[in-house]
Amino acid sequence: MTLAGKTVVVVGGTSGVGLHIVLQAAAAGAKAVGLGRSPLRVAAAQEKARAAGVAAVFEQADGTDETSLRAALERHAPIAHVVASALDAEEHALGDFRKTGTAGLKRGMNKFWLSCTLIEQSDDLLEPDGSITLMSGSDERKAWPGVVAHAIVGGALNALVRTLAIELAPHRINVICPGPTVDSVNDAIERPQRVTGMQPWGERFPLKRVGDSSEVAHGALFLMTNGYVTGTILDIDGGASV
Ligand SMILES: NC(=O)c1ccc[n+]([C@@H]2O[C@H](COP(=O)([O-])OP(=O)(O)OC[C@H]3O[C@@H](n4cnc5c(N)ncnc54)[C@H](OP(=O)(O)O)[C@@H]3O)[C@@H](O)[C@H]2O)c1
Repeated sequence: MTLAGKTVVVVGGTSGVGLHIVLQAAAAGAKAVGLGRSPLRVAAAQEKARAAGVAAVFEQADGTDETSLRAALERHAPIAHVVASALDAEEHALGDFRKTGTAGLKRGMNKFWLSCTLIEQSDDLLEPDGSITLMSGSDERKAWPGVVAHAIVGGALNALVRTLAIELAPHRINVICPGPTVDSVNDAIERPQRVTGMQPWGERFPLKRVGDSSEVAHGALFLMTNGYVTGTILDIDGGASV
C-alpha cells in the first residue's frame, strides 16, 4: 500500500511523535493533517513543515471534544488513516499510587478516552481498507515505580486493539508501544530539560539510549502501509520491555 494521495489525520500532530508522523506521511505523498489544541503549536508545526519542504496541514481541534474532532475529521473525509498521538502532559499524573490516587489515575485515562473518541468519530469516514493507529507506552510492558498512570492507560489501549481488530475489520487497528522518546530536532531547542531528564532512562535499556520521535513515527507509517497487520502491539523501545 502506498500513502500517495491518501489522507492521514493525526490527533496530537503538532508536536513530538505526532508531528513526525505528519511530516513523514506528507513526505511519502499523503495529504497529511496534524491536529492539536494550541494555536501557537499549530503555527509552529506549520512553519516546521514549510522549513522541511513538505505540504502538510495543521489545524486546531481538541481530540477530547466530540464536536471539535468530528468537524475536523469531516473537513478531510474520506480518510485513509487516523492516528491518536495526543497526550496532555499537564493532565498526566506522574508519581506512585499514593501520590496520584484514584483522581490522578482517572486523569491519566483521558488519553484512553481520546483514543476511543477518535475511533468512534472516524469510523464512518474511513476508507474500507483504512487504518487506526494508537499510542500506548512501554511502562505497561515492564513495571517501574512512579509511572502507574502511564502503565494503566497503556494496558487499556493494548487490550483495546486486540478486540477491536475483530470488531472493526476490514478497518485495521494497531497500537505502538514506545519507550522513552525525545524529539532530537525540536526538544533540544524547545524543551532541553526533557532531553537531559530522559537520557538516564536510556542507559537501562539494551540499546543504551532513549528513542527518537522520528523512529516511533516510522513505525506508524509501517502500520498504515502494511495491509495485513491488525490487532498488533508494536514495541519501539530500544529493548526497554525485554
Ligand atoms: N515521549 C515519550 O517518552 C513517550 C513514551 C511512551 C509513550 N508515549 C506516547 O506517545 C504519544 C506522543 O508522545 P510525545 O512525547 O511525542 O507527545 P508531545 O510531544 O507532548 O505531543 C503531544 C501532542 O498532543 C497534543 N494534544 C494534547 N492533548 C490534545 C487534545 N486534547 N486534542 C488534540 N491534541 C492534543 C499536543 O498539542 P496541544 O497540547 O497543543 O493540544 C501535542 O501536539 C503520547 O500518546 C505519549 O503518551 C510517549
